[in-house]
Amino acid sequence: MKKTSELYRGKSKTVYCTEEKDFLIIHFRDDISANNGLKFQNFAGKGSINNAINHFVMTKLQDNGIKCHLENKISDNELLVKKLIMLPIECVLRNRAAGSLIKRIDIKEGIVLNPPIFEIFLKNDMKNDPMINHSYCETFGWVSKKHLITMKSITYKINDILNKLFNDISIILVDFKLEFGLLNNEIVLGDEFSPDTARLWDIKNMDKLDKDLFRKNPTNSSGVIQAYELVASRLSNYFIK
Ligand code: ADP
Ligand code: TMP
Repeated sequence: MKKTSELYRGKSKTVYCTEEKDFLIIHFRDDISANNGLKFQNFAGKGSINNAINHFVMTKLQDNGIKCHLENKISDNELLVKKLIMLPIECVLRNRAAGSLIKRIDIKEGIVLNPPIFEIFLKNDMKNDPMINHSYCETFGWVSKKHLITMKSITYKINDILNKLFNDISIILVDFKLEFGLLNNEIVLGDEFSPDTARLWDIKNMDKLDKDLFRKNPTNSSGVIQAYELVASRLSNYFIK
């Protein structure tokens, strides 16, 4: 399927319309950003690594009954997906304390969170994606009560599947962010799962293998790419077995 017009250029991906109105092509660019675009760099190879990681993860989720937008990986950095009506919410799942949680409350990084914490954020760059709750969604009509309950339950199911997957490749799934959309009024997982949108730590030495490397040291491109490549190669070996 061929790209036609550009639909949307985000901070790290570009979305294109295709000849078929129900399908889009997502181009994973080499761009990386943090602090809502305040820190910005281009790391050669990052787009294709994230496309590969996302493809492994979404294939695993689909195999386990999770409805995803994934159709086919059509090139190193392009993915064919079903077009969704995206919901303006980011769902975050935390298995261990890190990131904004340890800024918000007095808790040590790495503490296991039992049960894991589910949070929602509004997708709004101008307001730095503020944290919200189910009551906001209902009042402002961002997501219906029924859809939000479904998104929460799917997020926990995805966590179970991915905790096992990453444990098998000696990686701790610290936290991650998901975006969902609607297809025929049904909740479907969209966007991506990659080290840009999740925290991944090596089980052996607790080394960070995700975008925190860039957040802390925005110019160290080789360190970031090496870490992302390690995640991709462990997933690749897991799927070859
Ligand atoms: P951002 O919008 O945060 O800058 P990206 O660079 O990742 O993020 O841009 C990708 C955009 O594509 C996101 O806004 C995401 O919601 C949207 N998107 C992802 N998957 C789909 C899909 N299947 N259908 C429609 N839009 C999608
Ligand atoms: P946080 O600790 O900064 O709130 O992030 C939690 C998880 O969500 C982390 O894995 C990074 C991911 N995330 C995104 O992918 N995009 C975002 O805009 C934000 C705020 C977090």
